[in-house]
Amino acid sequence: MAFPNSNGTEAGPWKLAMEDGKPIKPPVTVKYTKLFINGEFVDSVSGKTFETFDPRTEEVITGVSEATKEDVDLAVKAARAAFDHGPWPRMSGSERSRILNKYADLLQQHSEELAKLETWDAGKCLDMVQGFDLPEAIGNLRYYAGYADKIHGLTLKMNGPYQGYTLQEPIGVCGQIIPWNFPLIMFFLKISPALACGCTVVIKPAEDTPLTALYCAHLSVEAGIPPGVLNVLPGFGATVGAAISNHMDIDKIAFTGSTQVGRLVMEASAKSNLKDVTLELGGKSPLIVMDDFNIDEAVEIATVASFINMGQVCLAGSRVFVQEGVYDEFVKKIVERVKKQVVGDPFKRGVQHGPQVNKVQFDRILKYIQYGKIDGANLLIGGHSLGKKGFYIEPTIFNNVEDDMRIAKEEIFGPVMSILKFKTVEEVIERGNKTIYGLVAGVLTNNINVANRVSRSLRAGTIWINCYLTGGSEWSLGGYKMSGIGREFGPFGLQNYLQVKSVITPIHDSPWL
Ligand code: NAI
Ligand code: MG
Repeated sequence: MAFPNSNGTEAGPWKLAMEDGKPIKPPVTVKYTKLFINGEFVDSVSGKTFETFDPRTEEVITGVSEATKEDVDLAVKAARAAFDHGPWPRMSGSERSRILNKYADLLQQHSEELAKLETWDAGKCLDMVQGFDLPEAIGNLRYYAGYADKIHGLTLKMNGPYQGYTLQEPIGVCGQIIPWNFPLIMFFLKISPALACGCTVVIKPAEDTPLTALYCAHLSVEAGIPPGVLNVLPGFGATVGAAISNHMDIDKIAFTGSTQVGRLVMEASAKSNLKDVTLELGGKSPLIVMDDFNIDEAVEIATVASFINMGQVCLAGSRVFVQEGVYDEFVKKIVERVKKQVVGDPFKRGVQHGPQVNKVQFDRILKYIQYGKIDGANLLIGGHSLGKKGFYIEPTIFNNVEDDMRIAKEEIFGPVMSILKFKTVEEVIERGNKTIYGLVAGVLTNNINVANRVSRSLRAGTIWINCYLTGGSEWSLGGYKMSGIGREFGPFGLQNYLQVKSVITPIHDSPWL
């Protein structure tokens, strides 16, 4: 089958959608750029700042105070004092719940400004931030606010003349390190369960996207979260991230990012104080299209799975396995569908595909596109960068992809779909599992037996049947294999921030043992 772009030399059909041919002037100003320690915005000890960039133009947005180890020490000291002596872990769960709900109300009130700040700093499409990221972030905070007064232990029936019960206590001071792909969602996914349990937090946003985290820090004061409970330290991984991971006075670390850095975080924990570790890492997830499934629906689902957020999604379903009976038709239709993606300035209404976050990611994705060609996959559409400025890359699709090609094995974290052909259910289970990762997977079929068999056989933390990327605060997310340790979201997400204490005492002279 011949496709217009199959030799990879022609440009795709996209022109960057802009207003008057220029990037839109950001409709928001930056108010908070300092470190947030013990309830106040402060300069870093070193006085250093770093720059955060607009991925649409590569221009500097603003300088931001740059934390280093000394600032981590100060933030941990504040968080430790707030945990050991402050009101937060000691107040009733319902009072914490009230404050967290007020925090959510304030986020809602400032959502317009927050969304625009997020688009500016991360290059994420404003439509999506407003329609998805912000509601999810606020929803997560409310979800865990609802749990704050429902954290209970068990009464034990002891084997002997004793009474026993368990307490679920907050784990302590939590270090949290988050990435740039969903800055607001990641911020609240991390702090909400921790705060609901009564923990205190030192969180580091990604160096590419510090602005919304600082804005949210400001709102936490207005909500009534006491000083020291939430500390936000913008800065770099090798300095702030490493200082948090190595700190002797942090009890717990939760990290989202690359598998490579996840390994460093765990190693640092082992070498310091054996702090408890939750890791949400990379993925290379299979989306399986069986030939009995509605092809147009499959095409829509696959488009979202690979291209949402410019493919900068750890859950991306970027290995699309298509059964041989519908393979040719799927290939034809997905190309036509992807041509309709609106690529352009993420501030512009209707734009679905903006720039990648930074130059490093941009170069890395283009390198993988080259690997795809070198390794012998067929470039169906896309493959080029777009525009003279900014980190725009076309939605890109390869077919005839083989399991051992680099684009089929390694996480690209960009808008690149690989289509692989398969014959049987046994074969696709085997090939779907042939990866070091195991974050999520999808299967599209009308056959309940196939759906059950595939979902029980794939080694991944979430299996979507006839949908993909669905679920809010209530599901549980986490990886099998090298995709991570632990689960976030939902009731299981609370367990990351609790530890169980047993209390046992003898009972004398009771007839009811
Ligand atoms: P990264 O893993 O380096 O960054 C994530 C966070 O970890 C950032 O806040 C960073 O400052 C911090 N960090 C970096 N080095 C650290 C260290 N030594 N100790 C502690 N914290 C450290 O990811 P990066 O470089 O932004 O992206 C590289 C690749 O990682 C992507 O191409 C993608 O494959 C994967 N990634 C996965 C994410 C996910 O959601 N699971 C999110 C972001 C990236
Ligand atoms: Mg930025």
